[in-house]
Amino acid sequence: MDPIKIIQKYYDPKSVSYYFLVKHSEAVAKKAVEIAKRLKNPDIDLKFIKEAAMLHDIGVFLTDKPEIDCYGDKPYVCHGYLGREILKKEGFPKHGLVCERHILTGLTVQDIEDQNLPIPKRDMVPISIEEQIICFADKFFSKNEEFLTKEKPIEKIRMEIMRFGKDKVEVFDKWLKEFQ
Ligand SMILES: [Fe+2]
Repeated sequence: MDPIKIIQKYYDPKSVSYYFLVKHSEAVAKKAVEIAKRLKNPDIDLKFIKEAAMLHDIGVFLTDKPEIDCYGDKPYVCHGYLGREILKKEGFPKHGLVCERHILTGLTVQDIEDQNLPIPKRDMVPISIEEQIICFADKFFSKNEEFLTKEKPIEKIRMEIMRFGKDKVEVFDKWLKEFQ
C-alpha cells in the first residue's frame, strides 16, 4: 500500500493541512523506524511501522483545528478514532488501531470518563510493539513549524503529558528507557 495515495484521497496536496500532515507524519515515521531498527527485534514489522506512522493522523481533517488548516466539526481529540474509521473503510484495520491508540500515551475507558472526552468509551491504549513505538515517536513532534521536524526536548514532552496525569508520564518514561 502507498500511504501517500490514501492521504491524497482525503487531502488536497496543495493545501496547508496536507503540508502539516505529511511533514509531521514523515518525521514520526523516520523516528519510529530508527527506533525499531535499533531494537533489532526480528518480530517487529518495519514496513507496517512506516505505513502506519504515515497514516496515524489521517483523521485530523475531520476536526476543528484552524492552525493546521482543518475545519471539521469534531473536537481535535476525535482524530484518533476517526482515523481508525477511515483506515478500516480503506481495508487497513490494523493500521487503523494505530490511529485510535496514539493519543497521549493511550487513553483508557477511565481517562475517557474522567475527562469527559467526546470519544467512544473503549480502551485506546497502544498494545503491540509497533503501536507503542509509533505512539512514542509521535510525542517528539507537533504540527507546528517549530517542532514539525525537529525533536522536542524530553522535559517539554513530559510537561505537556503531565497535564493529563502522572500515570501518562510514567508510561512515557518507561518507553524512554526501552526505546530511546
Ligand atoms: Fe495525533
